[in-house]
Amino acid sequence: MSNCNCEQPLVPHIVEVIDIVEETPDVKSFYVKSVGGGLPYQVMPGQCSMLSLPVGEGMFSCTWQEGQEYQQYAIKRVGLLTEELHRIEVGQKLGLRGPYGNGFPIETSRGKDMLFIAGGIGLAPLRSFIKHCFKNRSDYGKITIIYGSRSYNDLCFKKELFEEWPSQPDTEVHITIDNPEEIWKGHVGFVPAYVEELAPDPAGKVSVTCGPPIMIKFALQSLQKLGYQDEQIVTTLEMRMKCGIGKCGRCNIGSQYICLDGPVFDLTQLKQLPQEW
Ligand code: FES
Repeated sequence: MSNCNCEQPLVPHIVEVIDIVEETPDVKSFYVKSVGGGLPYQVMPGQCSMLSLPVGEGMFSCTWQEGQEYQQYAIKRVGLLTEELHRIEVGQKLGLRGPYGNGFPIETSRGKDMLFIAGGIGLAPLRSFIKHCFKNRSDYGKITIIYGSRSYNDLCFKKELFEEWPSQPDTEVHITIDNPEEIWKGHVGFVPAYVEELAPDPAGKVSVTCGPPIMIKFALQSLQKLGYQDEQIVTTLEMRMKCGIGKCGRCNIGSQYICLDGPVFDLTQLKQLPQEW
């Protein structure tokens, strides 16, 4: 699944923030378009971009749909750059370059049932693929989304989760939070255990998982227990991407560079890497 991005331009586009939405207490979505209007470049579901401010730059997954004149980045506040990003306002200019990475297998998944499994901010990269499936609804079979976060307040994209996605045809959305809360009447427990409890039938399915590394590890084990074959199990290691162009040496696992060979892999490919993921 090699997909080197070495030829992509390193010079950032200048984009303008046109809207900011507070998704959770520590996640904001930033809508950007090129200064003067339009889209800096097209992005496939699962690909990332490098966003920059004077304090630094960082790699973030992008949500974009064909026909949209803006890109969207859902960013969790976790450090200096993201603290600064959370302070900016509409109208702020940012540097943006990309896209980086191979993206999700949207073509080879056509005609299959889709199982999306996400934890926390890990729903951000999957959301792009989920939206793609809904936009091209007849190309995909049943869609099942299993999503969890630490608490109700930490659930991202609530309007889509509770209103838009469950109302789509042949779609199931299952949501869980880690610990009981008075406000929450739904399922309580960790995502991998919930996957096993729901036991979605592997027949004809592609599963796509993203979340914290520990959640990915156990979710993949749960899928294997349920009988999913390695080639049916897809995940993204995008959190390892730093420079995105094979230069910084911070993403490699064995001989593979996540930024050049991934970040999306199926379990067949991951099993050929040292167990560092
Ligand atoms: S992210 Fe820098 S080498 Fe891959």
